[in-house]
Amino acid sequence: MTAPASDQPVAPGEAAFGVDIGGSGIKGAVVDAVTGELRTQRVRIATPRPSTPDNVAEVVVELVTRAKWSGPVGATFPAVIKRGVARSAANVDESWIDTDVDAVFSKATGLEVTVLNDADAAGIAEVRFGAAKGVPGLVILLTFGTGIGSGIFLDGQLVPNSELGHLELDGHDAESRAAASVKDKQKMSYKQWSKRVQTYMSHVEALFSPDLFIVGGGVSKDADRWVPLLNLQTPVRPAQLLNNAGIVGAAMAAVERGAD
Ligand code: BGC
Repeated sequence: MTAPASDQPVAPGEAAFGVDIGGSGIKGAVVDAVTGELRTQRVRIATPRPSTPDNVAEVVVELVTRAKWSGPVGATFPAVIKRGVARSAANVDESWIDTDVDAVFSKATGLEVTVLNDADAAGIAEVRFGAAKGVPGLVILLTFGTGIGSGIFLDGQLVPNSELGHLELDGHDAESRAAASVKDKQKMSYKQWSKRVQTYMSHVEALFSPDLFIVGGGVSKDADRWVPLLNLQTPVRPAQLLNNAGIVGAAMAAVERGAD
């Protein structure tokens, strides 16, 4: 099915194209910056193998071209991103390290592309439009997927590039024990896996004393099967934007950069 094209002119700051780059799929849509709603149907293309910068850039070009988009673009990336440059590569091809991802995607698309960490993007979406909207104080979003991503927000303001998925826990990289991919690989039930999440989140809680946790990633759609099993001082809310959080947050980052 083809997405409705976005060929109407868009006022600056009104909308942006969001791209969510993940290990298995790359998704994109035009996002309304006022409501956070998708203005075009979300399109998903399988992540190329190997997922090198050039191969991924080709997919980003295809997504914006299919939507006939010519405005700002925001893209998530599952790594530390400092001023557009990837500084880590935990679950992606090592060739990304030190790549200026902003520059690669901007050159390929001919558009201004803003890249940010995937969990930071998901957090922006939840803070603007979802489970953390209007929440004061310290909010920590944790995404459970292939790895564990984190987004830290103080009074709605992002503290970028936290990497709480890589805290050391009992001598292990925390995401290698408590990511959702570990649950799948080891065929754990939600009840079994929630014990690992409990150990991990109580550690994060002890270090940061947050006011609110938001839990995201694919497993947030089954939140009622594991969130009630957690025993923490901090309230825990499931993410609300589910599959669209990355796209929406990336687009918002692009819009807000344009407004600087
Ligand atoms: C990466 C983070 C990323 C998270 C979720 C981790 O392995 O280090 O940068 O946010 O996975 O994709």
